[in-house]
Amino acid sequence: MDKKNIDWGNLGFGYMPTEWRYVANYTDGKWDAGGLTDQSTITITECAGVLQYAQTCFEGLKAYTTEDGRIVCFRPDLNAARMADSCRQLKMPVFPEEKFLEAVIETVRANKEWVPPFGSGATLYIRPYMFGSSAVIGVKPADEYQFRVFVTPVGPYFKGGVKPLTLRISDLDRAAPRGTGHIKAGLNYAMSLYNIVDAHEQGYDENVYVDSATRTHIEETGGANIIFITRDGKLVTPKSDTILPSITRRSLLQVAKDYLGMEVEEREVRLDELDQFTECGLCGTAAVISPVGTIVDHGREINYAGFGPTIQKLYDTLTGIQMGRIEAPAGWIQVIE
Ligand code: PLP
Ligand code: COI
Repeated sequence: MDKKNIDWGNLGFGYMPTEWRYVANYTDGKWDAGGLTDQSTITITECAGVLQYAQTCFEGLKAYTTEDGRIVCFRPDLNAARMADSCRQLKMPVFPEEKFLEAVIETVRANKEWVPPFGSGATLYIRPYMFGSSAVIGVKPADEYQFRVFVTPVGPYFKGGVKPLTLRISDLDRAAPRGTGHIKAGLNYAMSLYNIVDAHEQGYDENVYVDSATRTHIEETGGANIIFITRDGKLVTPKSDTILPSITRRSLLQVAKDYLGMEVEEREVRLDELDQFTECGLCGTAAVISPVGTIVDHGREINYAGFGPTIQKLYDTLTGIQMGRIEAPAGWIQVIE
């Protein structure tokens, strides 16, 4: 199998259409068999639920080439389960979790020339998503839906690759108590666009959101969860019902405990204790672990070690597991071929 002729080492986080994607349709109360298509465009009614009332959700995971040449992906069952949760909350029909796994595997397999080689610094980003495709004009769920999976090779999520990030504490909110912050709904990202463009214009890489009820606790950023390291080497990460349950963060807690013998704490993290931590990182599928150099809270500047020793160890261990250099806990690695 020949890999595509791509400058893998210089890829950013962008969309590049590949040959194959997966599509399944929900009509008359059931899913069709689904399968691969080479059609990258979609025709839907002007009144589709997704276009009028943003009835859509998505997932994000990656495929990797291991050192010994296998293609694998990381904990796709958790993406299937989280997408099912998103669908239930948005009154969309759940795409069966076993079918989700089959769709991911089939799509990656059909595009294997696009899976970046081991050691190239790039990975294959996998984007499953679903949307209301039939007409709705009164505010209600659509009757018909489409589920799709496409893949695209990507490099680092943040421009500049491994340069430590500069974040600001946001004045705008991302998620309300009892709202949709804990699911991967497109609407959560639409409403963050104003704020991310503004952050970039002001010279920041990302926004750190605080809890919207009291504005005293750290939640997460627009596209990743957040972890902190204490002076005595403990991993602390915010616990909140209004953040996305990141698969990377949940995995890191286990890696920190079981592989690195660290203490881990999932708890409320107050804004006024940010200067008690020595290292900070953003974690997610796209972000992997991106080191944070500075958080600016309205003129108060808190500095961290960037790629400090603990963030570096966590990064090496997590990516080692994902790329097959370090033995993974049972069930974490799905071999595609
Ligand atoms: N938080 C938000 C808002 C995200 O969009 C993502 C990306 O998926 C994450 C956290 C990280 O989640 P995961 O590690 O499952 O990719
Ligand atoms: C991911 O990490 O998969 C995401 O969906 C985050 C997104 C902001 C690209």
